[in-house]
Amino acid sequence: MPNGILKGKKGIIFGALDSKSIAWKVAEFAHNEGAEIVLTNAPIALRMGTINKLAEITNSIVIPADATNTEDLTNLYEKTMDHFGCKIDFVLHSIGMSVNVRKGKQYYEMNYDWTQKGMDVSAMSFHKTIKSAWDLDAMNEWGSIVGLSYIAAQRVFHSYNDMADNKALLESIARSFGYHYGLRKNVRINTVSQSPTITTAGSGVDGFDGFFKFADDLSPLGNASSEDCANYCISLFSDYTKKITMQNLYHDGGFSNMGMSSKVMETYMKNSEEN
Ligand SMILES: NC(=O)c1ccc[n+]([C@@H]2O[C@H](COP(=O)([O-])OP(=O)(O)OC[C@H]3O[C@@H](n4cnc5c(N)ncnc54)[C@H](O)[C@@H]3O)[C@@H](O)[C@H]2O)c1
Repeated sequence: MPNGILKGKKGIIFGALDSKSIAWKVAEFAHNEGAEIVLTNAPIALRMGTINKLAEITNSIVIPADATNTEDLTNLYEKTMDHFGCKIDFVLHSIGMSVNVRKGKQYYEMNYDWTQKGMDVSAMSFHKTIKSAWDLDAMNEWGSIVGLSYIAAQRVFHSYNDMADNKALLESIARSFGYHYGLRKNVRINTVSQSPTITTAGSGVDGFDGFFKFADDLSPLGNASSEDCANYCISLFSDYTKKITMQNLYHDGGFSNMGMSSKVMETYMKNSEEN
C-alpha cells in the first residue's frame, strides 16, 4: 500500500542481482513510494544478473560500479547527480561476499588473501561508498545511508566465518561515519540487522536452511522477509526517521532478544528422544 512517502527523493541502490535480492525489493518499493533511483552493481554482476529488467520496472538507469573501487564510485556519484540534476537523498549498501565462505573454509583455516578480499567487498566498500559521497558533497541535508548487516556481528554462528568480522566492521563504520556526516550535513547512517533471507548471498552460507528454520522458530514474529526488510529501509529513507543515526537496527522478528522458544524446545526434545 504505497503512500508516496519518498515522493521527490532521489537515491542510489547497490546490490540488486536478481529478483531474490533484498536490494531488488527495496528498489521496487522505493519506486512505488515515489522515489527516483539509480541502480548499480559490480560489472560482473551486471553481466550475470537481471538488473536491466529491474531498471525497466522502476524506470531507472543502471551505472556499473565495483564498490571496492573509489574511481568507479566517484564516477557513479557524478553520473547520478548529472542524471538527477541535483544531489542525492538516500543510499542503500546491500553488498556482501566472502571467498572463505564460498570455498567452505572454517574460521580457523581461512586464507588471508580471501579474507582481505571479503572484508574489502563486504565492509570497507561501505566506508568507500560513504567517503566518495562525502568528497563530492553528493548528499542532501538530512539524507540517509543504510547498510545491511547480520547478527553474527554480535553472536557466533558456526559457519558464518569471516562474514561475522566483516559485519562487525560494517556496523562500526555506520557509527563512526554517522558521527562525522551527522555533524557536517545532518546525514544519518544506520545498519539494518536482517533475519536470514533466501537470496544468492544468504543461501551460500553452509547450513543456511537450518539457520533460517531455527531463526523462524525462535522469533515470536517469525523471520522478516526481504519485502519486510524493504519496507523498513523505505521508512529509514523517509523523513519519518530523521533523528535515527549511528544505530544497528534489528529487523528480525524478535530473534535478537530471544533465548529459547517453546517451538525450538519442542523440536530439540523430540530430536533428543528419537536419538
Ligand atoms: N540473505 C541473508 O540471509 C542476509 C541476512 C542479513 C543480511 N544480509 C545482507 O544483505 C545484503 C544483500 O545480500 P542479499 O542477501 O540480498 O544477497 P545478493 O547476493 O542478492 O546481494 C549481494 C550483492 O552484492 C553485490 N556485490 C558483490 N561484490 C560487489 C562489489 N565488489 N561491488 C558492488 N556490488 C557487489 C552482488 O553483485 C550482489 O548484488 C548483504 O550485505 C548481506 O550480507 C543478508
